[in-house]
Amino acid sequence: MTASNATKVRHWVGIETVSKEGLEQLFADAKRLEAEPLEQKRERLRGRVVMTMFFEPSTRTRLSFESAALRLGAGVSGFAEGETTSAKKGESLEDTVRMCAAYGDVLVLRHPVLGAASRAAKVSSVPVINAGDGTGEHPTQALVDLYTIQQRMGQIDGLHIGIVGDLCYGRTVHSLLLGLSKFRGIHVTCYSPSPKLALPEADLRHASLAGLTLHEGRNLRDIARSVDVLYMTRVQSERFPPEREGSTASSGLADYVLRAADLDDARRNMCILHPLPRVTELPVEIDALPAAAYFEQARNGVCVRQALLQSVLS
Ligand code: CP
Repeated sequence: MTASNATKVRHWVGIETVSKEGLEQLFADAKRLEAEPLEQKRERLRGRVVMTMFFEPSTRTRLSFESAALRLGAGVSGFAEGETTSAKKGESLEDTVRMCAAYGDVLVLRHPVLGAASRAAKVSSVPVINAGDGTGEHPTQALVDLYTIQQRMGQIDGLHIGIVGDLCYGRTVHSLLLGLSKFRGIHVTCYSPSPKLALPEADLRHASLAGLTLHEGRNLRDIARSVDVLYMTRVQSERFPPEREGSTASSGLADYVLRAADLDDARRNMCILHPLPRVTELPVEIDALPAAAYFEQARNGVCVRQALLQSVLS
């Protein structure tokens, strides 16, 4: 996807240009890799080097990429915070990328600035995988989300997905909508606890043009009753513009919480996903319910990212 014709390097900057068949191939590979014996698996990327370039905090994305690489026999190098690199001395993102591309075979980049992965792809001689760029995209999270939905529900076509929380600053939502638009007959009900966190108009228009049937939800209980998948997200207060900082409690966002009682009338097979980390919106009382699939979703990060690493390095 997003391949540069000049170099044929297979970058993964956004999910929009990947086909449904491309997604399904990755899911089939992920499933196979999950079951493959370790001694066989660790020959697949032996001698390759995966560089993890994280300018923003991460638990799941960085560690699941590193685990995926190590289990496939690759070596891992990189950094978990930009402060420890020469970016601290003023080196540009582009020069940092050029250097890491000289030392590794694939770059996994997380950066707080929207468009950083595209900038990296323009100067990198090896594949760049976007591990989250500001409020833009998080395409490998969408792969994990879609894979988990397929495993749990048996299919993605025809499902009704509730996407709730911070639809404005939450980049996983933007990528998930783009990924869902590859499938047929998808209904999406959106709900944000504040109008200021609603899906931006451009994303709404794009999702609708891409064939998703969109609905506006009124509250969590109503949505939980009607969907197959409830996709919760955290309010991304760290991405609020300065004039909004500190306004979480006063704007009523503190009340945005899914309660077990909200699920009383939910469909029997519905599942709850969350890209994590969670804060207050998804209390631990939900964890024991059969519908709770978010830790399974996080575990799926390893086999899905193995499939992706193998695909861009083959
Ligand atoms: N879901 C996700 O991106 O989690 P991390 O920020 O911990 O990587």
